[in-house]
Amino acid sequence: MKPTVLQLRRSKGARLAMLTAYDYPSARLVAEAGVDLILVGDSLGMVVLGYDSTLPVTVEDMVHHTKAARRGAPEAFLVADLPFLSYGTPAQALENAARLMKDAGADSVKLEGGEEVVPIVEALVRAGVPVLGHVGLTPQTASALGGYKLQGKDVDTARRVSDGAAALERAGCWGVVLELVPAPLARLITGRIGIPTIGIGAGPDCDGQVLVFHDLVGLFTGFTPTFVKRYAEAGTAIKDAVSRYAEEVRSGAFPGEGQSFRMNDEVLKRLYGS
Ligand code: KIV
Repeated sequence: MKPTVLQLRRSKGARLAMLTAYDYPSARLVAEAGVDLILVGDSLGMVVLGYDSTLPVTVEDMVHHTKAARRGAPEAFLVADLPFLSYGTPAQALENAARLMKDAGADSVKLEGGEEVVPIVEALVRAGVPVLGHVGLTPQTASALGGYKLQGKDVDTARRVSDGAAALERAGCWGVVLELVPAPLARLITGRIGIPTIGIGAGPDCDGQVLVFHDLVGLFTGFTPTFVKRYAEAGTAIKDAVSRYAEEVRSGAFPGEGQSFRMNDEVLKRLYGS
C-alpha cells in the first residue's frame, strides 16, 4: 500500500528501497518487484535522452516521463525531480510542482540544494507540496562543485552538507537524499536529523538507498559510478536478443510457423484461380 508522507517522514531506520523509473515498463517492473519508492529522476536526461548532464532536462520532459511512470505504477509513491532552473523563485517552484503533481500524478517533488533552497522548500511545504531534499553531490550544480566528485571530505564542506540537511529538515522536507558523501559523514547526518536520509554513494547507514534503474540492471553503457552495484546485465541480454533476431530474419528462420497465420485453403484456391 502507498505510504503517506507522514509515515515516510517517521520512517527513520526503515531501510527504504528507492529506485528510479522513467517510463511505463520500467515503473511497472520496479513496482511489481516491490520497491518502497519510485523516483522519476532528472537522471533521465542522461540514461534515457542521451544528454551528457541533467541540465538540459525540461519540466515538459519530467511531466511526460512522470505520466508514463504513473501509468506503469498506479499504486506506487512516486517522487518527481524539479529539473535545473525550474525552482528559482517560490512562484516558479509552485507552478512547476503543480505540473508534476496535478498534471503528471507525482506524490512528491525532489529538488537539489541545502540552505540556499530553504525559502523555496518552505513555500512548497506551506502550499502542501511534499518535498524530498537532495544534498552532497548535486548533479544540477556539479560543475560548481568541481565535477562528479565525493563531497564533504574536509571540515568546511562536510559542515555545509550536514547544515544543509538540517536546514532542509527545518524547512519541512519529509526526507533528504545524500549523494556521494563519505559513509561516516552520512552516518553522522543520519543520526543528527529526524527525517529519513536516502543514500546514493553514501554508505550503509542511511535510512534508505536509491539507485538509477539503468545502472542497476546494466542498461547504461556510459560512465557508471563506482558506488553502483549491477544486479543484472540487461544491456548484454538485449543486444544478444536483437542480434539473434537480425540473424534469423536474414536466414529466413523468423518468422516461423508459430509467428504466422494460416488461411482457408478454399479462399486461397479461389485467389490463385482468379
Ligand atoms: O536524478 C536522479 O536519478 C537522482 C538520484 C540519483 C538520486 O537524483
